[in-house]
Amino acid sequence: MIICLCEGVTDRDVRDAAKRGAASLDDLVQTCRAGGDCGQCRADLRRLLREQTARPRKEER
Ligand code: FES
Repeated sequence: MIICLCEGVTDRDVRDAAKRGAASLDDLVQTCRAGGDCGQCRADLRRLLREQTARPRKEER
């Protein structure tokens, strides 16, 4: 599902960026460009980052 319409970034792209170490909105703009234009997606990006950081990674279980 596309989360950032301006940049065509999907929720999967954001999760992948978070898995690679993106931990803030600035990190997402730098890594996948999500949230770098109008900003309408930033609440959803924050939620995805929170979900991703709260969920233990498979190899950590
Ligand atoms: S929808 Fe993400 S910056 Fe506009």
